[in-house]
Formats: sequence, structure tokens, C-alpha cells
Amino acid sequence: MMKLDTAGPDKADPRRKIKLGVVIVGSESSWRAANTESIKTAAEQEQDIELFMQYAEGSQDKEIEMIRSLIRQKVDVIVFTPIVETGWDEVLEEARKAGIPVILTDRKVKVEDDSLWTTFIGSDFIEEGRRAARWLLERYANRGGVTEIVELQGTAGSAPAIERRQGFEEVLANNSSFHVAASEIGDFTYDSGFQLMNKVIKDGVMPQVVFAHNDDMALGAIKAMEQAGMKPGKDIVVMSVDATKLAFQAMIAGKLNLSVECNPLLGPQIVKAVKDLAAAKEIPVNIITSEGIFSAETAKRDIAMRKY
Ligand code: AHR
Repeated sequence: MMKLDTAGPDKADPRRKIKLGVVIVGSESSWRAANTESIKTAAEQEQDIELFMQYAEGSQDKEIEMIRSLIRQKVDVIVFTPIVETGWDEVLEEARKAGIPVILTDRKVKVEDDSLWTTFIGSDFIEEGRRAARWLLERYANRGGVTEIVELQGTAGSAPAIERRQGFEEVLANNSSFHVAASEIGDFTYDSGFQLMNKVIKDGVMPQVVFAHNDDMALGAIKAMEQAGMKPGKDIVVMSVDATKLAFQAMIAGKLNLSVECNPLLGPQIVKAVKDLAAAKEIPVNIITSEGIFSAETAKRDIAMRKY
């Protein structure tokens, strides 16, 4: 495992702060806003951390450029969320050559050599997809006939889009009473949910279920369905992922039926991992957040506990 390089006159100074470089992937969703705030607040609270935060605005090229800039600034640790899974081998190799450990958070990478990153802190996206499908199976497997599903996917090539889809399909695979009638690709934004659902409606697809890969897309899709005179949450079952406050409000209003939890509040765990690395402690390769599901039935009670 890669350790922080504390050699050299400057780095040996006990008063020296840990230079932490963070690359934020974008601002596509309310989940992302909560995640960014959590990382910033947790790092800024620490006296011994100097934070270098960069905002990549949803661009992989910008993320790569920013990681290179952090390497040039000789930060001690880089934390970043890869927008998509592939295309990181070269820049991660550059970080390794510079002796800078990389912590992945929220999304994973697919690289030739997994020792290019030190640890992953985030959710199990496959399980999130499975949770949505299991909930659907429990409630709708015996309704008779075939249940037509529309899936609204997140960013193409991103870990949450690939893995939520994988988990969802895996659970429904052997059940012929569920059929995915359309699976459209968006980008985790409200606007993409709205546009994709409008397209589905225009194409004449009439689903009984909409599964959106995040709350923002579900809320956009709900708007499109309402404009078309439909009753989301009543005529059409709507499910999503994240469980943000906005999703709880939609559940209380009876427009959203289920939101699978994806916890964005990863700041404290990230800071702990950074400090452990700095203290040359071993840290786990995967730090996975424990999560649940929330449905409309209990939304009124559960919203009180929501912090994001
Ligand atoms: O990678 C996590 C996903 O990205 C969240 O589900 C979504 O809201 C965000 O934009």
C-alpha cells in the first residue's frame, strides 16, 4: 500500500499541514451539492489539513488536468471522484511516480493496475440497483400481466449508471412478468430526466414503472409525466436512488414511491482516511457506506432524520 512520503526537511516539520488535493466532479445533482459540502466542511475543520479543492464541471479532461496540477503543486494526497470508469491509467501512474497516494470517492475506476489507487470510499451501487428491484418484486410480482418499466440512466460510462443498471437487471432477470420497455441515457440532472421522459411519452411507451438512477432525474421525469396529464406515484410507480430531502418531499406529496439511499456525507470518512495515511496507518481498500431504502409509506416520519 502506498504511504505518505514524509521524508525531506519540509515534510519532517511536525507543524507542517497535510496538503490535501480534492477534485470535485461536477454540480449535476442535489446529491453532489451535499457531497461537496460534506468534504469541504470536514477538511476545513481540521487544523492540520490545507485544502486544495478543484471543480471539474462534469468534464473528464478537466479532472485529468486538475489532478496534474495537484501533482505539480506537490500535494500529499489526492481525493477524486472519477466521472466515468475508464481513461485514468496514465494520470494515476503520474501520481504514483510523484509518490502521491490517490483516494477514490463515490465512483470507482477500471484500470489495468488497481494498486494505482489506495482506497475507495463510497456506496455499493450494484446493491442499490438490487434494492430497487427487490422492492418492486415484493410489491408487484403478483399484479398479473407484464409490468413495463422505463429506466432513466445516469451518465454513460459512470460507475453508478453501469452498476445500478446491473443490480436492477440481475434481480429481475429470471422474472418474465417484468420487462424493460425503454432504457434511456441521461446525466443525473433534473433536465435530462425531464427531457428523457418527454421523449418516452412522445415515443408512445406507456410504462407502469419508471426507475430513475437518481432523485433529480426522477423529479424531472415526474414533471414531464404531470405535464402529459399522468399521475406519477399513483398511475405509474416511480423509483429512484439517493434519498435526498427533495425526494422525501415528493414521496410525501405522493408523486414518488421509493428512493434507495445513497449517502453523500462522506467528508468525515475521507478526512479520517487522509489522516490515517499521513500517520502511516494501514487503511482498508474499500470503505463502503451502509444504506437502506425509503418508501412513500414512511416518508413523513423519516424526513425528520434527513440531513441532505
Ligand atoms: O455518483 C453518485 C451519483 O452521482 C448520485 O446518485 C447522483 O445523484 C450523482 O450525481
